[in-house]
Amino acid sequence: MSYETIIVETDGRVGLITLNRPKALNALNSQVMEETIAAAKAFDEDDEIGAIVLTGSEKAFAAGADIKEMQALNYVEAYGRDFFGQWERFAATRKPMIAAVSGYALGGGCELAMMCDIIVAADTAKFGQPEITLGVIPGMGGTQRLTRAVGKAKAMDLCLTGRMMDAEEAERSGLVARVVPAAELIATARETAKKIASFSLPSVMMAKEAVNRSYEQPLSEGLRFERRMFHSLFATDDQTEGMAAFTEKREAQFNNR
Ligand code: HXC
Repeated sequence: MSYETIIVETDGRVGLITLNRPKALNALNSQVMEETIAAAKAFDEDDEIGAIVLTGSEKAFAAGADIKEMQALNYVEAYGRDFFGQWERFAATRKPMIAAVSGYALGGGCELAMMCDIIVAADTAKFGQPEITLGVIPGMGGTQRLTRAVGKAKAMDLCLTGRMMDAEEAERSGLVARVVPAAELIATARETAKKIASFSLPSVMMAKEAVNRSYEQPLSEGLRFERRMFHSLFATDDQTEGMAAFTEKREAQFNNR
């Protein structure tokens, strides 16, 4: 498939998606949405890919949903086509996704980063949910995923004032896993993705699924789910190999089986 608003590359077992609408600071219009979802799905279905990196430009990861496209929408249309509900298909990607954020990650941009599993931020990154300044509220998870990530106090602060938070505050608040100098952002995200992709894919995918389960159910059920997933990994060749390699003091050779 050929894409117009994103660039799709691979680096070994890492799939890289770069949002590429520079004139609109990577504002997320319908085309960007469709292409990004399609690229993530293709990587998810590709046996040669073990992890995905999503990034934008130096100035903007994404400055939000495309306000100019959204402007004329009325209620019936928004509800009728479940406007931007399709992004949940991106969030449903089963392989690990790293958002490498430089510059603005605002509104839908911040929400898109939060759909990924790990956010690595450049020291130039700015996160915010400015929808309130437009007379609306976040619609792609901002009031939900942000609150789970940073707690009620910060989520209320950001959603009600529309202010931005810098990378340092985002890391301190628990939104961001790591902050690195801007020049090192892509290399760090790629290296992290490569590391993840070097492990056994079934165990990586189950780890992601189990962590995500913690959002959905009580602790007792989450612990049971984790234990059952853990047990099931003893049916894999990679468990045999991983543990044998440890006892034989050598590096494991995983086959994703
Ligand atoms: C459409 C956008 C855009 C957006 C920027 N642009 N953000 N177009 N939608 N979200 C366009 C500008 O119109 C401009 O185009 C070009 O990108 C460069 O932007 P400037 O504003 O000139 O850049 P700068 O002065 O550096 O300011 C950067 C900025 C500002 C602070 C990020 O662009 C800004 O505030 N953008 C809007 C941020 C926002 O409110 N995002 C939330 C959107 S609502 P021209 O043609 O004039 O050069 C949302 C809802 C999600 O995300 C939920 C959906 C269900």
